[in-house]
Parts: sequence; C-alpha cells; structure tokens
Amino acid sequence: MAKDLNNLFSPININRMTLKNRAVMPAMGTGYGNPDSTVSDRLIAYLERRAAGGVGLIITEVFAVDRRGKGFPSEVGIWDDSFIPGLKRLTEAVHRKGTLIAAQLHHAGRETAEGIVGAKPEAPSPLPSIILRQPCEEMTIERINEVTQAFADAALRAKNAGFDAVEIHGAHGYLVCQFLSPFSNHRTDQYGGSPENRARFALEILEKTRKAVGPDFPVIIRISSDEAVKGGHDLEFSRWLAPKLVEAGADAIHVSLGVYSTPGNLTIASMDVEPGFNLFRAKAIKEVVSVPIIGVGRIHDPRLAEEALSRGDADLISFGRQHLTDPDFLNKARAGNYDDIRFCIACNQGCIERLMFEFKSATCVFNPECGEEYRMDLDPAEKPRTVWVAGAGPAGLSAAMYAAAKGHQVRIFESGSEPGGQLISASMPPHKEGLQQWLAWALRRLAGKGIMPEYNTALTPGDASKGKPDLVICATGAAPLVPPIAGIDTEIVVDARDVLTGITSVTTDPVVILGAGYVGMETADFLIQRGMKVTIIEKAPFPPVNAITAHGYWLHRRLYKSGSLLELGNEIISIEKNLVRVRKQDGSENSIEAGMVINALGAKSRKELTADLKKMGIPTTDVGDSISPRRFLEAIHEGAWAGINIEKTITGEK
Ligand SMILES: Cc1cc2nc3c(=O)[nH]c(=O)nc-3n(C[C@H](O)[C@H](O)[C@H](O)COP(=O)(O)OP(=O)(O)OC[C@H]3O[C@@H](n4cnc5c(N)ncnc54)[C@H](O)[C@@H]3O)c2cc1C
Ligand SMILES: Cc1cc2nc3c(=O)[nH]c(=O)nc-3n(C[C@H](O)[C@H](O)[C@H](O)COP(=O)(O)O)c2cc1C
Ligand code: SF4
Repeated sequence: MAKDLNNLFSPININRMTLKNRAVMPAMGTGYGNPDSTVSDRLIAYLERRAAGGVGLIITEVFAVDRRGKGFPSEVGIWDDSFIPGLKRLTEAVHRKGTLIAAQLHHAGRETAEGIVGAKPEAPSPLPSIILRQPCEEMTIERINEVTQAFADAALRAKNAGFDAVEIHGAHGYLVCQFLSPFSNHRTDQYGGSPENRARFALEILEKTRKAVGPDFPVIIRISSDEAVKGGHDLEFSRWLAPKLVEAGADAIHVSLGVYSTPGNLTIASMDVEPGFNLFRAKAIKEVVSVPIIGVGRIHDPRLAEEALSRGDADLISFGRQHLTDPDFLNKARAGNYDDIRFCIACNQGCIERLMFEFKSATCVFNPECGEEYRMDLDPAEKPRTVWVAGAGPAGLSAAMYAAAKGHQVRIFESGSEPGGQLISASMPPHKEGLQQWLAWALRRLAGKGIMPEYNTALTPGDASKGKPDLVICATGAAPLVPPIAGIDTEIVVDARDVLTGITSVTTDPVVILGAGYVGMETADFLIQRGMKVTIIEKAPFPPVNAITAHGYWLHRRLYKSGSLLELGNEIISIEKNLVRVRKQDGSENSIEAGMVINALGAKSRKELTADLKKMGIPTTDVGDSISPRRFLEAIHEGAWAGINIEKTITGEK
C-alpha cells in the first residue's frame, strides 16, 4: 500500500458498522432506476462496479420515502415493502464485492414537479421553488407526522433489505432542509420561526428512525452546513444544530452545502472552485460533536483526502464524481498507481447537468462505461481486425483505446504534429487544464498497448486503399467556421483557437470577440486573466452560455467583474478597419471599436475523408465532431462505442 495514504486506508466505525477505510461514495442520482421506481439491473451493475473499486461505504442515490417525495421520474422508491426484493438484490451485489452500502432516504419537498409526484408538491410553506417555480402546498401537522414516520418506516425497510446504514437527506434544499431554513420555511406554528422550531422536523425524523431501527443500526444525516443563499441558514446555525442531531440519534454527519438556487451550484462545484473548498465547514462541525464527520466537495485526489484527514478536518471523505470518472481510483491510489487514475475535472457536463438540464441519465464525459456496465461488451473480440483511426483528437483516441482493448490491431493517423485536436485549445482557458490530464492518461493507456499516433500523417483515401484495413474510423473532427461576413478575411480577424494556443498573440486593444458560445466566453475569460477588457458580440437575445450551469455562472461573473461587455442581440454586418459594424434587434446600426477581432462563431465538420472512402467502397464509420461539431462527451462516447462495435460495423450486424 502507498505509505502516504495511511489515514485514508485505516478503518473507522459508525455506530457498530466498521468501514474498511475512510472513503465514501456519496449519493448521486443517476436516472438508472426503472420507471416504476424499482431497482434496475442497470443500477445494480453500476453500483457493483463501484463497490469493486475499494470504497469503504457506498451511499445510494436518493430513495423516495413517500410517493409524493420523488424528485425525478425514475427515482427509486422505498416507501413500500414491495420494493424490498429489488433493494435486496442491490445490497447483495454490493456486499459480494466486500463493500458496505447505506440507503439515502429522501423527500424532495418543493424541489419536484406535479408531473412527477401526481399532486402538488408539498413543502413547509407554499413557496414555489426558485428554480422549478412549481406551486406547492403547505404541509398540515397531520401530514408532517405521516412524513416523519415515512422516513422511519423506510429506514426499517432498508435494514430489512440488507442495507448496512441509512442516510437521512437533510441537505441541498429538499424537504428536511426546507424545514431547517428560514429561506423556505415561513411557518408560524411549532415547525417554523425559531431555530428550535425549524429543527423540529429533522429531529423528529431522527428520533422516530432511531426507535424504528434500534440502537445499533447506523443512521447518518446529511446537511447543507451553509445554504449559501441570501436568507438561508448558515454555518453558525449548523454548528448550533449538529449536537441536537446527534442527541436525536445521528451517528455521523455528512457536511455538504448549498441548495438548488445557490449561485454557481456549490453543492456540485465546478472546475472554477478550488478542490477541497468545503472542508473548513466539515472541520467547524467536527469541533462541536464527537460522532464521525464526512467531508465532501470537489475532492477527487486521494492525496488531498489524506491531507484533510491528517489535519483532522473530517473523519471520512466523500468522493462523488471521481467515482463516476474512474471507479478503480482508490485501488489504484492504494497501489501507488496515480498515473493510471483518470481524474474528474468537475465539468458537470456528463453527470449532473445532463441529468438536470438534458433530462437524460447520468454518465461521465471521460468514462463511457459509466452507466453502461450492464450492456457494454468489453470481452476480447473473437476475430481481431485491422483498424485505422484518422484523427488523434478525443474521439479518435477513445476509439483506438477501446478497439485495442478488444484486441484489434490499431493504427492512429494524425495530420497535425501533436495529439488532442481541439482539446488543446479547450484546455487553455482558466480552470480547464484538467483536460490535459485526460489526454496524457489516454496516451499512456495507448502506449501501454504499444500504440503511438503517427503524427504529421494525414490519412488519405489512397493510403487506405493500399493498406486495406478492415475498417477506418473517421475521427477527423471540426475546423473553425468562417461565415461569409464582409471583412472576416482581413488581418485584424484571428481565430479563437489560435489565440488560446498562442499561435496568435492578442496585443491590440480593444478586443472584440464574435460569438458568445463557450468558445467565445472562454476566450474572453482567457484574455481577462491577462488583464484585457473585451466586448463579446452575440446575435441571440439571450446568452448562449446559460448562467444556471455552474461553469456558466462563473464565466458570466468573471466577465461582469472585469468590466468586459456582452452585447446581445447584435448581428454582425461587416468588419472594417478598427471596427465591427452590427445591426441591433430594432434595426438600428452601430459600430464597435476593434483593435483586434476574434472569430468564435463555431466549427465545421471535416467530412471529406469519409465521403471519399465511401466512394471507394472502403468500410468506414464516423465519430465525434466529424459527424457534427458537438462536445467531448459525444466524441469520447461515440469513439468508445465504435471501438467496441468494430465487428458489428464491418459485418453490418445490428
Ligand atoms: C476553444 C474550445 C473549447 C472547447 N471547450 C469544450 C468544453 O469545455 N467541453 C466540451 O465538451 N467541448 C469543448 N469543445 C469542443 C471539443 O473540443 C470537441 O467537441 C472535441 O474536441 C471533438 O473531438 P474530435 O476528436 O471529434 O475532433 P477534434 O478535436 O477536432 O480532433 C480531430 C483530429 O483529427 C485530425 N485530422 C483531421 N483530418 C485528418 C486526417 N485526414 N488524417 C489524420 N488526422 C486528421 C485533426 O488534426 C485533429 O487532431 C471546445 C472546443 C474549442 C475549440
Ligand atoms: C449526478 C449527481 C447526482 C447527485 N445526486 C445526489 C443525491 O441523490 N443525493 C445527494 O445527497 N447528493 C447528490 N449529489 C451530490 C453529491 O453527493 C456530492 O455531494 C457532490 O457531487 C460533491 O462531491 P464531489 O465534488 O466529490 O463530486 C449528486 C451529485 C451528482 C454529480
Ligand atoms: S462528467 Fe465531468 S464532472 Fe461529471 S464526473 Fe465526469 S469529469 Fe466529473
């Protein structure tokens, strides 16, 4: 074992439960449950895979204690005994891998929708959720009693289904947190007003739960130690609350933060926030209680966890998204193989934002296996094939890795002098350097299989015709789009990617960026960091980068704070010497002074190679931006599936 992780890999007790180490996988909603709220084979396969990775305790995603408390359509239910057989299959699968598992008991309160719960959402006060804006109903005393009992009944059900512990979800703006908070609880009866009254709901849940499960069964409570929202409760309140939670029956406290409307989603903090930024709150809670404290928040590296444990900030550390990116990271760290760890970069694209804003199940951009464990065939191919990959961008590298893992003979051709494709420029703006880690990891993986991209070697149809590979995977990506705007070909116009990679240096103020998509906004961020002020011109009336996403929020904030401008509803007419002429939505024209103009108006797929190969009858398949310019998620996942499905693609099998 790596000597430097002694604290992380030492056992600890929560009540009578002994964890083999201090690493916890916290609750993470996936959307893998069945539509009838039962446990699915997909969820079991996903959690079994995580259990095999060496974690001490897995806490399941939210399980609804009441039908009216479901937060999303496929949320797993635990409100009825009929769920027990499915839950048992889950606990047995995790136990087979030598890992303990706790069920997270949840009621969404106002953070859900009528379409999901089949009635008006219920809450301490009839205040619609700030984000979802759903009208909701104030809970009666009778209903409060029913719901506090529902938590206790669900805890007993969890115990009977083989769970080793339960976690009461008292955080993140859901029902228990809503009661605790002056932000969402405006009641004037015994459940609202004073801190004692607001705490009553949580304390009654704990007392009833303890009574239901007996003295030895571990009960954890998760809290938002600070709601980090105007009018919400704060760390001082949580320090007052924590001893009362313990007195009411909590055996451990999981110190999270934030609610749905916390600016910048600090609950699931993005790359813009320092790793370990929330540990000081865990420490502050630890100071006032003697039960184990679980720290959480952008801790991806076991070495950072070790530091926190040795400083005494917390007794256990939750690794959330890192478990999605690399389920084996703890075993790798334990063996000292840090180079083999694929790190989460806190982009939120594949996990929480896919779940919340795209209404799709969660995965990880960099781990195409996440959520696909139940159906991805990673066994060696029966018939190894010769596979050529055109392009060493994310899609090509991913395709090559999976094809090689299946045992195919792989060559990668790259027309440029280095690997990564657009990832190179994408990794240059502030906080995005983590992308380079993935690139280095992928190259190491390939090198392990004896594969090195062949640089400065554009794959041509002629080469393919001569070499006769069984399949060509076209991962040729996308090039900058240059729309037909008068003056776009003049000297003052440069491409955003060239600015980011340093091919072009931006020296002449004022700088005007064309397009406020991610490339435009991040190029602005890059220049702001270098002390420049920019003006971004955008045709759409709303910012294409939504500030509701975590990274989007921080991008807008830094832009605003720097005094730079985002000019919406401006259509570019022409670029002339030292100015950009635009038409506003009311039809009036304006000119914006420009020392330099940066084109961030999009990308165009490179499709020529595929078209030529098809004409010549050479088997080929496309992945990534060569299909249409999109994101890393599509590139890496399509690459993986292409690598896995080589035989099917060649034979045309469905
Ligand atoms: C500045 C910037 C920031 C971005 N930020 C993000 C982000 O934060 N999140 C996100 O999800 N996406 C982001 N993107 C988009 C992301 O980079 C792309 O979606 C992704 O790189 C696509 O991968 P790909 O492998 O399909 O194509 P590419 O990355 O374009 O790679 C294609 C490769 O193929 C090579 N090639 C082309 N033709 C041939 C040939 N005939 N033979 C051999 N090689 C060839 C090219 O040289 C290139 O290296 C960003 C893009 C840019 C430009
Ligand atoms: C996709 C996703 C779903 C989540 N769902 C839950 C949940 O069901 N219950 C919960 O308490 N926290 C949930 N969280 C928050 C995580 O438990 C964790 O606190 C957060 O991701 C920060 O930890 P990390 O930086 O290690 O990822 C979720 C996070 C993600 C990424
Ligand atoms: S999608 Fe991004 S934030 Fe989510 S787990 Fe993967 S790397 Fe981390």
